[in-house]
Amino acid sequence: MVVGAGSSWSSWASAQAQSRRIQMPGEDGLLVRSSRFLDLETPIDYFDTWITPVPRFFVRNHMHEPSEVTATDWRLSVAGEVEKPVTFSLAELSRIAPQSVVNTLECAGNGRGLYRPQVPGAQWGKGAVGTARFSGPRLRDLLQRSGVKTSGKHVMFRGLDEVPGKVPPFIRSIPVEKALDSDTLIATHMNGAPLTKHHGFPARALVPGWIGAASCKWLTEIKVLESEFVGNFMNPGYRLPNRPVKPGEAVAPEDTQPVTALNVKSVITSPLDHAKLEPGRVFIHGAAWAGEADVVKVEISTDGGSSWNPATLARDRAHYAWRLWSFVCSPPRGDHRILARASDSLGRTQPSTPVWNPGGYLYNAIDEVRIHVA
Ligand code: MTE
Repeated sequence: MVVGAGSSWSSWASAQAQSRRIQMPGEDGLLVRSSRFLDLETPIDYFDTWITPVPRFFVRNHMHEPSEVTATDWRLSVAGEVEKPVTFSLAELSRIAPQSVVNTLECAGNGRGLYRPQVPGAQWGKGAVGTARFSGPRLRDLLQRSGVKTSGKHVMFRGLDEVPGKVPPFIRSIPVEKALDSDTLIATHMNGAPLTKHHGFPARALVPGWIGAASCKWLTEIKVLESEFVGNFMNPGYRLPNRPVKPGEAVAPEDTQPVTALNVKSVITSPLDHAKLEPGRVFIHGAAWAGEADVVKVEISTDGGSSWNPATLARDRAHYAWRLWSFVCSPPRGDHRILARASDSLGRTQPSTPVWNPGGYLYNAIDEVRIHVA
């Protein structure tokens, strides 16, 4: 079997080597993908804990973060197709029973930098993903206080981002069924502490199992709509063609659908690509996730894809969270290609070649590292 990701992986690895690691308060050596609007990627070797510490959690901003948000002045309004519009202060939100969800948050564009031909947009490697315990009231508890009318079909989120010039504001919507799910939150806390500014202080949506873009940060407005929100970040942004398309091929907007739940995916976090190792036992580690589905197995190949063996899944688990996994082997001296592929409860398995799409979304090809045993 031939795995197609090899050449794109090595060019990504060299870009990775040239990337700058950021030194800023509260951030722990993240890779800068953009500094115009802050985009910070987690180095792959940081994924060695089930819960990603906040200073190591990737950051993805489409525009400037709000310059000033205070816990006392901040308000969240709920309006639109509701019986009674309601506005909440942070103190009022904190009096609603909180729910906690351990969720793997992945940017839809994670891995975009690995697609060939290249796709415009943030050139993420493998680290626009992390797992955290998000806590806060359920969105449905807020919606129930307003009373959603039967005409309400979608729920729109607006953040307090500062929109530069002609850039369209970051506004998106989710179907009302997902909004009313008991695990969809207005998160005020991440890993037990109030959200930091980069992650949406004082409150963000948390739409578990879905692409990160669904989880609007610095939330200030919730509006129930009769239909999907019309705007740049719903269309043409964050859409996938309904059928496979070739690079350069035109896709009619009506032939696309919004990107929602995440794909099945695994990454090898250790050893790193091009590692030089001593003969003996090699411990291979990684993480695997599947959005709204469960990871059922991770398989490892140490011979470039000819044979596969099951990895051991670690004990820590939660419905929307990744599973850490490990595998031990004793490869002989020489060069080896180590591959990892995950399968999930929907019967999906990572493909050897990713499904190219014009937005560069949901990259999930079988992961690969090359090692040399000397
Ligand atoms: N919310 C607002 N208001 N503005 C944004 O730019 N980026 C989205 C989402 N929520 C964004 C936002 C995207 S694309 C992702 S992947 C996640 O936030 C990233 O969340 P994080 O920065 O906390 O990791």
